[in-house]
Amino acid sequence: MAILDIQGLTRRYGDLTAVDHLDLRVEAGTAFGLLGANGAGKTTVIKMLTTLLPPSAGTARVVGFDIVREAAQVRRMIGYVPQALSVDGALSGYENLLIFAKLCDVPRRERSARINEALELMGLAQAAGNLVRTYSGGMIRRLEIAQATLHRPPVLFLDEPTVGLDPLAREAVWEHVRMLRSRFGITIVLTTHYLEEADQLCDHLAILHGGRLVVSGVPDQLKAQAGVTTLDALFAHYAGGVIEGGSYRETRNERLTAQRLG
Ligand SMILES: Nc1ncnc2c1ncn2[C@@H]1O[C@H](COP(=O)(O)OP(=O)(O)O)[C@@H](O)[C@H]1O
Ligand SMILES: [Mg+2]
Repeated sequence: MAILDIQGLTRRYGDLTAVDHLDLRVEAGTAFGLLGANGAGKTTVIKMLTTLLPPSAGTARVVGFDIVREAAQVRRMIGYVPQALSVDGALSGYENLLIFAKLCDVPRRERSARINEALELMGLAQAAGNLVRTYSGGMIRRLEIAQATLHRPPVLFLDEPTVGLDPLAREAVWEHVRMLRSRFGITIVLTTHYLEEADQLCDHLAILHGGRLVVSGVPDQLKAQAGVTTLDALFAHYAGGVIEGGSYRETRNERLTAQRLG
């Protein structure tokens, strides 16, 4: 059974169709990458799959549950790290996780062991007692991942997990995401506009362009079909251009990260 089964999923904002009849299946244990330039519709897809935004049309099932009719069950099955900040800078890492453990009904007698394990797994044991506002961007991302997986969900959604991080911090986040997958078999669904990130982490990917699915499959097969050797070239082939790096975007992302940390 597919752990994600998306059929005709559509979201309109007024006249704009942000996601247009998306059909996708994701098998359990996959690391699935949703690729696209800014505005392609990635976040809108994730928000619908995490039940935060109702679809305009179409359906999706997450671990067998319908995202509209069985939203509460879906929420129990997923972890979600949004693009924006999801932890509190005025609390310590441990305190952030404690609040989340209470929210998601981790039994009281298991809480501290579960939290310490999660902090350990994400390489944050030393910093557990420090205020999150003193953490680096990469540490914050890892804390958010610890928080999102505290209730041990079978599926983890990561929306642009390493935006604005420097290469070392990015590599550390990747390493921890890989570990979650190999150790716990958790299915990872991530969005990114960094093709290198998709190359490093994903064994399946889908390219979104203007709200439409352009192509999906296994990276090497997709490259072979398109007669190209890199994800950059694949993206250019299907989405008609490169995902721009460059000054404005990078600066803007760095600003957003600075705001998140501030
Ligand atoms: N709340 C909203 N109201 C109106 N338009 C929106 C809203 N959220 C997103 N959009 C538009 O929908 C499109 C897809 O956005 P989004 O899903 O955030 O893309 P991505 O995450 O790929 O950058 C963009 O054109 C964006 O401007
Ligand atoms: Mg987005």
